[in-house]
Amino acid sequence: MELSHRGPEFGGILHDAEHDLRDLLRVPDNYRVIFCQEGASGHWNMIPLNLLQGKNNADYVETGYWSYRAIEEGRRYCNVNIAASNRIDNFCALPEFSDWQLNPQAAYVHYCSNETIDGLEFNWVPDTGNVPLVVDMSSHFLSRTIEISRFGLIYAGAQKNIGPAGLSIVIVRDDLLKPPAPGTPFLMDYQGQAHAHSMLNTPPTFTIWVAGLVFKWIKRQGGLSAMEAHNVRKSDLLYGYLDQSSFYRNRVKPGDRSRMNVPFHLKEPSLDEVFLKDADAHGLTQLRGHRVAGGMRASIYNAMPCEGVDALVAFMKDFERRHG
Ligand SMILES: Cc1ncc(COP(=O)(O)O)c(C=O)c1O
Repeated sequence: MELSHRGPEFGGILHDAEHDLRDLLRVPDNYRVIFCQEGASGHWNMIPLNLLQGKNNADYVETGYWSYRAIEEGRRYCNVNIAASNRIDNFCALPEFSDWQLNPQAAYVHYCSNETIDGLEFNWVPDTGNVPLVVDMSSHFLSRTIEISRFGLIYAGAQKNIGPAGLSIVIVRDDLLKPPAPGTPFLMDYQGQAHAHSMLNTPPTFTIWVAGLVFKWIKRQGGLSAMEAHNVRKSDLLYGYLDQSSFYRNRVKPGDRSRMNVPFHLKEPSLDEVFLKDADAHGLTQLRGHRVAGGMRASIYNAMPCEGVDALVAFMKDFERRHG
């Protein structure tokens, strides 16, 4: 933590982190990787500031809490066209691509590929033609293989599958790096950050070091296809149990369910607190649903071993037997 960020030691750490990340994701040469201090939320402002390029329209897709937060920020800068929304379905299923109303003149299309709170995940990538596709991958980044060239810009906050909070990563196609809107704070300039190799100011050195270790760990597990198989196995186990139970319920359409975040409710909500307390006593922690959703949520990111999900399911079965 005391290394100078301009010294050769940290230079090596940053270089290796970027190299391993590129390797894992097979990032094409015409994409830049930027390490930023802003959380994922910071990009809700940086994206319009950098990508509107004088245009006044952008398309946003609403699929849950986090995509909605991005929409609210986008509205500060341009006319936001909600190209698709599943609000009417209570955020239980992704909007069918054939129903999306995309504007071919939009500066970009923004969506969130894993809704952390609502528990929805895209298993497919929308085809937006010549309009750059911008995606918030915060909560499933590095959990599965992806084809970078389908996207104009990918961003992800660190604190799920990358490392400790305090860092976010941007992967952006070269041709989208242009001078931002006048008045943009210099730290929010993607082009400036890319030119300065993420060092316009002191980068979050410790967090980048840990992220680099995580990238090496994922490589040792067998890379992203092995990570994906691991995550499929865990989520299949948990959803499989939820679906055969009448005591618990997950309301998301099966094909649109997140492998990372599994929200569930007890049929009898008055048992929520008993469930959480009892789970905690069994070493099963952090299961309380987000404050906007209530109920429970099991976030089973890359670092969660299969044994963790086995233990959760065994506990849930036992709880159902005692209280069902
Ligand atoms: C999908 C998604 N986007 C954005 C955010 C906001 O991230 P941050 O708090 O790092 O700004 C979160 C946080 O959990 C998230 O899950």
